[in-house]
Amino acid sequence: MERVLQVENLCTEFKTERGMLKAVDGVSFEVREGEMLGIVGESGCGKSVTSQSILRLYDEKSFVRYTGDVRFHDESLLTLPEKQMESVRGAKISMVFQDALSSLNPVFTVGDQIMEAILIHQKRTKAEAKAQAIEMLNMVGIPDPARRFHQYPFELSGGMRQRVMIAVALACHPQLLIADEPTTALDVTIQAQIMDLIVDMNKRLGMAVMLITHDLAVVAETCDRVIVMYLGQIVEEGRVEDIFDHPMHPYTMGLMNSIPKLDTAKATRLYQISGTVPLLNQIPVGCRFAPRCPYATDLCREEMPGLSRVTQTQSVRCHYRNEQNGGFVEEPPQYEAG
Ligand SMILES: Nc1ncnc2c1ncn2[C@@H]1O[C@H](COP(=O)(O)OP(=O)(O)OP(=O)(O)O)[C@@H](O)[C@H]1O
Ligand SMILES: [Mg+2]
Repeated sequence: MERVLQVENLCTEFKTERGMLKAVDGVSFEVREGEMLGIVGESGCGKSVTSQSILRLYDEKSFVRYTGDVRFHDESLLTLPEKQMESVRGAKISMVFQDALSSLNPVFTVGDQIMEAILIHQKRTKAEAKAQAIEMLNMVGIPDPARRFHQYPFELSGGMRQRVMIAVALACHPQLLIADEPTTALDVTIQAQIMDLIVDMNKRLGMAVMLITHDLAVVAETCDRVIVMYLGQIVEEGRVEDIFDHPMHPYTMGLMNSIPKLDTAKATRLYQISGTVPLLNQIPVGCRFAPRCPYATDLCREEMPGLSRVTQTQSVRCHYRNEQNGGFVEEPPQYEAG
């Protein structure tokens, strides 16, 4: 399948009073046409910084330094002049954030906001843009779209606003949608509806999706591939079935163990990875996960393992998973409970 986006050795450093802090450190991955790629990891692992760096949303003049390469088809987004970047954002690559209320402008109607996205990026008359905006509202499942078109964000419920956000994001038929926790602020029923909508757009329009979420069950249900991030790096990558059926990195195993299993007859203990994600100015030497890893050895504490391909479809950053042992261990390791 054709590649839509290729991220190579991306590093994002913030300039702070305490010096440069590297929030994303050498991240490489690709997104293929029409696929849904999940990005998971605990809070503070660099998921949002990675996605915002792709669109260069941080201010480079004063605040941030990007290195590496982000290729969108033939264009290198990290070096593209800002003017051209504007025609990528929102048109070829769109983003949906968690907080729809603060992303929509309160003083314009929802119709105006969708129309604006269309008029900036596409050659349309106002009448055409209006018709297209109403069609978008209809497509994202907003009832009575012609009336809703004239309403302001505050007149809509949270779920409706999130749908409007998605309508704005999809108005120009992007080839890639980056959805950063698109449903976190919504109640469970609406969450499911919004996810169904994103999956439907993915299937119907062939739009690739990068889905950032804490909800592993949603990833299992909707994504084709998964990237697991820890402290600014990718620690594991593979197909959904690889990651869920046979996680290899102790961190991924910990994340997987923290999903309650309702369907097994055997009672499964719920594990929790101990400790918390370190701050960026306290990055451990060696494997970044070593201080929290129940299997860590001296080697792990001294040397950072590379991300290496262990099977055809799965890569892992761990000294103890490699091609020789096929990434498999004889005994499934057991975490200490608690
Ligand atoms: N503007 C910023 N300036 C300095 N550090 C930042 C900035 N934004 C994020 N960081 C730091 O970068 C790291 C990664 O943050 P990021 O927001 O990408 O995490 P995340 O994986 O998206 O977490 P969450 O699941 O909570 O959304 C964190 O340590 C965070 O404190
Ligand atoms: Mg985030």
